[in-house]
Amino acid sequence: MASLLIKNGMLVTEMGEKSSDIFIEDGVIHSIAPEILEEADEIINAESFLIFPGLIDCHVHFREPGYEYAEDMESGAAGARSGGVTTACDMPNTNPPTSSRAALEEKKRRAGRLKNFDLRFFFNVSNIEDLKELEKIDPKEIVGVKLYFDHSTGNLGAEAEAIEGAFKFCGERNIAVVVHAEDAAVNEAARKKNTRTDLAAHSLMRPAESEMAAVDKSITLAKKHGTALHVAHVSTRFALNLIRDAKADRLPVTCEVAPHHLFLTEEDYETLGTKGKMNPPLRKRDHVEALWEGIGDHTVDIVATDHAPHTLASKNAPNPLEAASGVPGTETMLPLLLSCMEGGPEDEKGEIRPIGGTPESDIQPKDILRLCFTMPNRIFHLGKPGIAVGKPLDLILVDQGQTWKIHGKDLKSKCGWTPFEGWEVTGKVVKVI
Ligand code: DOR
Ligand code: ZN
Repeated sequence: MASLLIKNGMLVTEMGEKSSDIFIEDGVIHSIAPEILEEADEIINAESFLIFPGLIDCHVHFREPGYEYAEDMESGAAGARSGGVTTACDMPNTNPPTSSRAALEEKKRRAGRLKNFDLRFFFNVSNIEDLKELEKIDPKEIVGVKLYFDHSTGNLGAEAEAIEGAFKFCGERNIAVVVHAEDAAVNEAARKKNTRTDLAAHSLMRPAESEMAAVDKSITLAKKHGTALHVAHVSTRFALNLIRDAKADRLPVTCEVAPHHLFLTEEDYETLGTKGKMNPPLRKRDHVEALWEGIGDHTVDIVATDHAPHTLASKNAPNPLEAASGVPGTETMLPLLLSCMEGGPEDEKGEIRPIGGTPESDIQPKDILRLCFTMPNRIFHLGKPGIAVGKPLDLILVDQGQTWKIHGKDLKSKCGWTPFEGWEVTGKVVKVI
């Protein structure tokens, strides 16, 4: 029997950190205690390292099949692992989209080749045909249904009839509905009104009111059909307020925010160019503050990356407003969050981010555990055991004191760039076991 002893690590739990030894036999956790004196084939000295369970990123775009030149499951998983993520939920805007039994089967088949990575899938509903396909799926085969309220990468904007149908269907079967909350009509009106051609117009053409309208509609539908609603990548104070109220009304509504919305603002278009273009777009400082407040008062359930790699070629379109939307994020989420314990990451100019600091700057490892493991695990019924006796080993060791600089060229994602280029962060994943 192969055995492994991890000595003197700081095990991150819901209550805080606990100095612990972990003894593992044949890949299964045998014991966890303040001091274990067993002999082992291998001993890892984890002194000064935080121990988290492998993190969960419930919002990634691994691009396979269809866009493997930007990312594939293998490169996506490798990048995620180097950011401490060992489980991810893949979005359906691939080619073909995950909106049929056959497409889901194919993705599952491909994911089966991944080593040491658990990739799950969302099912897309854009129209009534997709809804019929959904009827052929066992709810256990998917982590939820994704609905795009407006077009984004992949043009999967859903028809009103399909949206309501999906809420009803999922409400009856206890399937989570994840919405990309941008209202098509509000966006269309904003687009018509816009006369600007600079990149910052992207935020005007997908305005904060659009997210608010879509979240409002979603909550109404969730209430009507008793559906578990999860709002993806919340970017505005308005939407967060609606979600906070829905939670106070005891509706089954949850949400996530993405690191780019927590650390960047519209002002970053100037230096980032189209590397700062995503949907929903970057917002003003007041919205960013609201997201941090939401983390502080637990209105925000999850931090998820919306890892959306695109090649530099598709980012460098002649018209910036037509450049691909989306940024990579799995490799940088944990270091960015850990850096908040040290006051915040420093951007390439040495300025602390987010600008003005976080209202919730005392973010602790246990908060990261909740946001990037416990809550996604619970909301999407992923069944991950965490670090527990009798359960398979799936943990990461993090050196919380290690300071390093983020460079796109060092990241494992195929796209080879990051919106956090040159940022200094404190906290590095040193081992994924
Ligand atoms: O910025 C985004 N990129 N938002 C989305 O909704 C899709 C994603 C992608 O797939 O590129
Ligand atoms: Zn996404």
